[in-house]
Amino acid sequence: MKKNFGILIAGFIIILGVSILFFVQGRDMPGQLPDLSMKQPSDKSDNQTIATKESPLPIPPLLKDHNPDPNKAEFHLNAQNATKEFVPGKKTETMGYNGDYLGPVIRVRKGEEVSVKVKNELDDVTTIHWHGLEVDGDQDGGPHSGIQPGESWSPEFKIEQPAATLWYHPHPEQETGKQVYKGLAGLFLIEDEVSDRLDIPKEYGVDDVPLVLQDKRFNSDGGIDYSLGMRDVMNGLQGDTMLVNGAVNPFLEVPRGMMRLRLLNGSNASVYELNFNNHQSFHQIASDGGFLEKPAKMDKIVLGPAERAEILVDFSDLKKGETVQLNNKGSEFMKFKAKDKNSKDYTIPTNFPTIEKMDPDQAVKTRKFAFGGMGPRVNINGKQFDANRIDEELKINDTEIWEITNESGMGMMGEMVHPFHAHGAQFQVLDRDGNPPPANETGWKDTVLVHPDEKVRVIATFKHPGDFMYHCHILEHEDAGMMGQFKVDK
Ligand code: C2O
Ligand code: CU
Ligand code: CU
Repeated sequence: MKKNFGILIAGFIIILGVSILFFVQGRDMPGQLPDLSMKQPSDKSDNQTIATKESPLPIPPLLKDHNPDPNKAEFHLNAQNATKEFVPGKKTETMGYNGDYLGPVIRVRKGEEVSVKVKNELDDVTTIHWHGLEVDGDQDGGPHSGIQPGESWSPEFKIEQPAATLWYHPHPEQETGKQVYKGLAGLFLIEDEVSDRLDIPKEYGVDDVPLVLQDKRFNSDGGIDYSLGMRDVMNGLQGDTMLVNGAVNPFLEVPRGMMRLRLLNGSNASVYELNFNNHQSFHQIASDGGFLEKPAKMDKIVLGPAERAEILVDFSDLKKGETVQLNNKGSEFMKFKAKDKNSKDYTIPTNFPTIEKMDPDQAVKTRKFAFGGMGPRVNINGKQFDANRIDEELKINDTEIWEITNESGMGMMGEMVHPFHAHGAQFQVLDRDGNPPPANETGWKDTVLVHPDEKVRVIATFKHPGDFMYHCHILEHEDAGMMGQFKVDK
């Protein structure tokens, strides 16, 4: 008995020592940090470690609207615990909305009045945040809108912004990384008269297909769990196996014609660099907040965590049965297989609506946001998140310039890029280090990558009152405190 107690005490002292070491190391940041995690994550962030047979790409279902009124919509979402086999025969614990992993697609129209009944059937508190949607702070689903296990929350809002590919995900304080990693995320699509009018593919699941891109680190038993090693605390959890709509190694049969792909980087922490293995080019037609003025032709697209892009890809040169792979940093993770000819020939439209450029002279204020610190000490403007502190106060309908800089230090893999995201408004990128933004950043954005030592200036008008978050969208950084709050006063 006494001996057991001694062992217990000794164990406790060792654990205490290791944790102190962690934080002391964290404070001075030597170049080299010991990896204290039991699991040693691999160095290859772009190689697939889990080999599974290819399987058809799952298409997330469109969520049923329970309100018969055409100007209103009512949706039901249950956040629930589940199990899933990413690798056939190997069960792992997951979370999903109305299912075992990810959630259904909510599709609404501009002008609609929307209500959502969200039920929390998890064992933990959760929230649901409409990423990219312009709504009042109390409907936005930030950390203040916690839903206790067994309880429900019913936000209501009117859709007042143009057609776009947005998404929803949980936002509970310090638990966002885990809940998203376990599977809580879904797409939120807005349609309007412009998306109706444009001659682009729009048959959902056929030639208008969402691709929710994520990466996981699988255990040797084929399961996933959310346990952070030192490297993950520094860089965010970066997996080595890509998932598309929750599937490893998927394929999609495509018409030999134009495809519209709605890409979401739904990862916790990874920046994706996507291209096709046949090096064919494609056109980006929409960014986070909606259509671009002009399609941007590219042969590679970089997407940071939480960023979205709609692209048009022309597969009409493929022969029947031919395949094209989608790559991340040169590694293939998804296959497109050409089937019969598409019934309709599309060209890249030129009649996208103009986006009125916001005028920096209209801004009443310039605010600065500096990413700083690393690991457990990541911060913005030297401050870590405090739910009881409002960091910035704004006036409703004011236009402001936000100047975001990255002064943080080295991650485990070198200098870190941080994706900046603000709730409550879509913004325009004014410049990057004084230079005009690239073509695919000339439209509406809600998340921008900020590279080491870079200065990105964005401009926005804040049309909704309430409390909102701004933060790094590397979820482990957000959870560690790289987040602040702003209040928009009526
Ligand atoms: Cu996508 Cu504050 O979140
Ligand atoms: Cu958001
Ligand atoms: Cu970050």
